[in-house]
Amino acid sequence: MALKIGIVGAGGFGTIHLSGFSKNLDCELVAIASRTEEHAKAASEEFHVPKVYAGNDSWEQMIDIEKLDVVSICTPNYLHAPIILKAIEKNCHILCEKPIAISREELHQIESELASKDLIFFTSFQKRYNPIFKLIKGTIDEGILGKITLVRYYFSHYGPYKSWKALSEEKWFFDSKKAGGGVLLDLGVHCIDILRYLIGEYDKVNGINFSTSCIKMEDEDNCNVLFQFKNDASGLISVSWCSEPSETIDIFGTKGFIKIDLSGRISPSFGPKSLKRNKQIKDLLKVKPPRESAQNKLIDHFINCILTKKQESPNFRDGKKAVEFVLEAYSFKK
Ligand SMILES: NC(=O)c1ccc[n+]([C@@H]2O[C@H](COP(=O)([O-])OP(=O)(O)OC[C@H]3O[C@@H](n4cnc5c(N)ncnc54)[C@H](OP(=O)(O)O)[C@@H]3O)[C@@H](O)[C@H]2O)c1
Repeated sequence: MALKIGIVGAGGFGTIHLSGFSKNLDCELVAIASRTEEHAKAASEEFHVPKVYAGNDSWEQMIDIEKLDVVSICTPNYLHAPIILKAIEKNCHILCEKPIAISREELHQIESELASKDLIFFTSFQKRYNPIFKLIKGTIDEGILGKITLVRYYFSHYGPYKSWKALSEEKWFFDSKKAGGGVLLDLGVHCIDILRYLIGEYDKVNGINFSTSCIKMEDEDNCNVLFQFKNDASGLISVSWCSEPSETIDIFGTKGFIKIDLSGRISPSFGPKSLKRNKQIKDLLKVKPPRESAQNKLIDHFINCILTKKQESPNFRDGKKAVEFVLEAYSFKK
């Protein structure tokens, strides 16, 4: 029997989740809850979702009334934790958009509620499904670059409402109470998640600088974070909502380096030249930007984990570590 899915938030990313679940044959889209009736209805028509809940408490009603197996959360960030807690109470498996929470208290509450239940929790870190990261990880794990000493992740675009179509007219991404932070919480969580996957656990944040330079908002729209991994490698994450879309990653080790443009517009570069003979490096040079939707792959993986009763990554801990990283970085603002 297909798993019964309920989605909260019919906005930009809610539509992407709807699309992913609608393509998975083990899923039945049962209900959509969104604040504005018109938006919820439009999504229900497009994806043939039979039940529509509208209003600020639509998600509570949906989770109370429908007998859901899965709740998928695509709302402004401040609503993630309350919806997660409600879904846990009703024994629903959870796919939550990043960041999964906006405070340590919320993380703690979710963690303790989850501990007593046997539920699958996925954090929507869809970048992990870009095949290039598996190749980069293979290169690192085989020691081709030697011991990793320095890593830089740069990620920028023109921000929500310009670079992608967040639907909600309230511009919640620029409201500290609803977003919980600025560009670092929005983009930085992806960067630290990928770096944890590639390099290993981070140890501590050493410092940040930041500015609010192009968007009228309280929090930062540019931010650099310096940090340390447990294996002693040094890290830099640099994120911006004020620039041309760009995403690159540089990894330096004692035997060589690689620099990857994740948009695929520029071929990877590496050194020394002798690395050219290496199979992993050859594969990296050949890789093309994926055609398949990473979000669909994540949803298929999540559903498979529910069916096989196996919790894999990106899980609650991955979502938690990413939020904690950002909160630790924000503590340097005070
Ligand atoms: N993984 C990624 O790479 C990625 C990319 C983009 C966004 N996201 C995340 O996805 C989440 C949503 O972002 P978005 O871009 O989709 O924003 P969005 O277009 O503004 O969508 C948010 C939706 O939440 C709904 N909503 C607000 N309050 C609600 C409530 N009380 N009850 C039910 N629904 C409510 C809004 O409803 P109405 O429209 O009906 O008023 C809106 O449709 C954010 O956490 C964001 O960080 C992740």
